[in-house]
Amino acid sequence: MARPLRLGVLTGGGDCPGLNALIRGLVRRGVHEFGHSFVGIENGYMGLVEPELVRPLGVEDTRGILPKGGTILGTSNKANPFSYAVREGDGWVEKDVSDQVVRRCEELRLDGLVAIGGDGTLSIAHQLAGKGLKVVGCPKTIDNDLSGTDQTFGFDTARLIVTEALDRLHSTAEAHDRVMVVEIMGRHAGFLTLESGIAGGADLILIPEIPYRVESLLETLKRRATRRRSFSIIAISEGAYPEGGALSVLAEAADIPGRGVVRLGGSGKVCADLLARHIDAEIRVTVLGHLQRGGSPSAADRVLATRYGCKVLDLVRDGQWGHMVALRNNDVVAVPLSESRKERRVDVQGDLVRFARSMGIGFGD
Ligand code: F6P
Repeated sequence: MARPLRLGVLTGGGDCPGLNALIRGLVRRGVHEFGHSFVGIENGYMGLVEPELVRPLGVEDTRGILPKGGTILGTSNKANPFSYAVREGDGWVEKDVSDQVVRRCEELRLDGLVAIGGDGTLSIAHQLAGKGLKVVGCPKTIDNDLSGTDQTFGFDTARLIVTEALDRLHSTAEAHDRVMVVEIMGRHAGFLTLESGIAGGADLILIPEIPYRVESLLETLKRRATRRRSFSIIAISEGAYPEGGALSVLAEAADIPGRGVVRLGGSGKVCADLLARHIDAEIRVTVLGHLQRGGSPSAADRVLATRYGCKVLDLVRDGQWGHMVALRNNDVVAVPLSESRKERRVDVQGDLVRFARSMGIGFGD
């Protein structure tokens, strides 16, 4: 029997439903089957840079956390050890503290590190593996935009929340003959908007992969009017934009210390303002925001996250450092962490888009 190991665990990037289910599966199987012990690292990679952000993580700590959203370890999407934001005078400077992170893992006597996160966290894990750190990854995000895996956990729950929101907006839209524009997360990928748009019966689905034209939106709305449908639901990704137009950005990366990505938002309003120039119908915008990320995970996400958490221990047992767990054809397998660096986008020629079009859903192109 292999020797019991001491493993560090961190959750990085935006939280999503299922993180606690994963931690629970990892710790329970790790302790019961392998005799491993775990060290919880708080606030993502920040916990390996700042002092006093580590604590023992035992089976006791995982009691009652299965249905809980968020993460018991806390998270941060600004703590990249390769460009870590440090206060200097009135401003911020970014420093490479990755060697310090490797040293900290040695000080903590970690035999390996489990990094749970989206593309940012996993790509940092990949870089740290390049520095010799023994690390395995677990993919999570409501955006479902990681190419290494067929699905990330968190996506199913977010899809349910958005679908329910669309259902609810239907009745009030119909009562008032309004056009409801619903802005949905997902960054530069349209998976969440596409799938919840289909599930929630949206009339128009606007995703980053298909820039939209206002004339096309007007045609779809007019077609509905001729069928005596005087209300409409437009599901729009936060990353969607009009042809020839720009992304709607709330904050530039440069204004967010340590954050290598822009903060998106406002695409719904842009779309509504463009439409308002041409139609008399009342238009209302709903921004679902972080409601899509909070709260209890769906059963499907709990199961997927549990599978990921338990599978990590196979990778550790087999010495598959530098890999992450992934769902491929319904099997949980190991794939190289480098896979997480490839972004995934909606296949605009794929079945889902084709079938949606054939049912009369407009994509604004
Ligand atoms: O990646 C998950 C996600 O929720 C995106 O859909 C969204 O653009 C982003 O995170 C929001 O990040 P924050 O919580 O930092 O505003």
